[in-house]
Amino acid sequence: MMSIRSVVAGCGHYLPAKTLTNNDLSKIVDTNDEWISTRTGIRARHIVETETTSDLAANAAKMALANAKISAEDLDLVVLATITPDYSTPATALVVAEKVGVKSGVPAFDISAACSGFVYALTLADNMIKLGQVKNALVIGAETLSKVTDWTDRGTCVLFGDGAGAVVLQAKETNDTIGILSTKIFADCKHTTELRTSGGTSTTQSPGFIIMEGKEVFKYAVNALAEGANKAIELANLTINDIDWLIPHQANIRIIDGTAQRMGVDKSKVIVNIENVGNTSAASIPLALSQNIEQGKIQKGQTIVITAMGAGFTWGGAAIKI
Ligand code: ACO
Repeated sequence: MMSIRSVVAGCGHYLPAKTLTNNDLSKIVDTNDEWISTRTGIRARHIVETETTSDLAANAAKMALANAKISAEDLDLVVLATITPDYSTPATALVVAEKVGVKSGVPAFDISAACSGFVYALTLADNMIKLGQVKNALVIGAETLSKVTDWTDRGTCVLFGDGAGAVVLQAKETNDTIGILSTKIFADCKHTTELRTSGGTSTTQSPGFIIMEGKEVFKYAVNALAEGANKAIELANLTINDIDWLIPHQANIRIIDGTAQRMGVDKSKVIVNIENVGNTSAASIPLALSQNIEQGKIQKGQTIVITAMGAGFTWGGAAIKI
């Protein structure tokens, strides 16, 4: 039966030029490459110098639009997931829309769901497309986590990085089972303290720094990531064997390995880029997706499952036929 589907028309990504290696970090806090790489899988991360979240997002968006072979003028929705907006208001999505040349009148707004932000944004855009309200949606995850990192706290500053990833979703009326096959998002309000910033607009009038109970987050993350992925697979009427690639949120290599193991997915099917980018929160999944499409690893016709978990706690997954 013909139905409206959200098809991935193009992906893009952008990383700031400056990298900070584990050895660089060992000059700032009492740490070393061996501790960081064995506990987290991270060896380097990209850090902005003068760029803002909207700059990273706009660069990723331009690449996604070019790959989708459409112009910014064709867009009728911009959704940006971030926890590091340029301003409290207006939404960074509007700043990005201006930078890439989106028409006046097109809705643009931010979503705050931490590391799950991109899955939340994708879910929303997919449903607006399926309702017939949107034809071309730009969905972005972008962060400058270096701005909310406590560079004196070795327990957190080694984990995060800056970056952006973007996807153009296009409405297509088709009989084929393509594009976004399923989405599912979750939150658990009993866990608002384990991972948060030390401040915010209405508490301290400044964003503060990320503070985290690492072990608590770790314990929750594997279950949540597996649940997000498994639910997406079930809702798409697929089995694990139908999946070509699993793209988990890149938080920690041990969390990624634990998730794959719990799901029964072979390591060879798991997309990992954490070594060179660290945890980029909402940017993590679209960044990994775009890099791996560009490298030819993820190919047209393949089925991928994305899954994310972050502060809140929030989590969720999606199944996508590229
Ligand atoms: N370098 C050297 N030593 C360190 C460092 C560091 N950067 N950080 C902590 N240590 C020390 C601690 O002080 C502690 O020393 P002690 O035993 O003398 O007290 C020791 O290493 C062990 O510390 P733990 O916190 O117990 O280390 P753990 O094995 O739990 O690893 C980590 C910490 C990597 C943060 C882990 O808990 C983790 O990955 N948690 C998940 C959190 C996460 O990924 N959050 C990202 C955001 S949420 C998300 O994206 C899903």
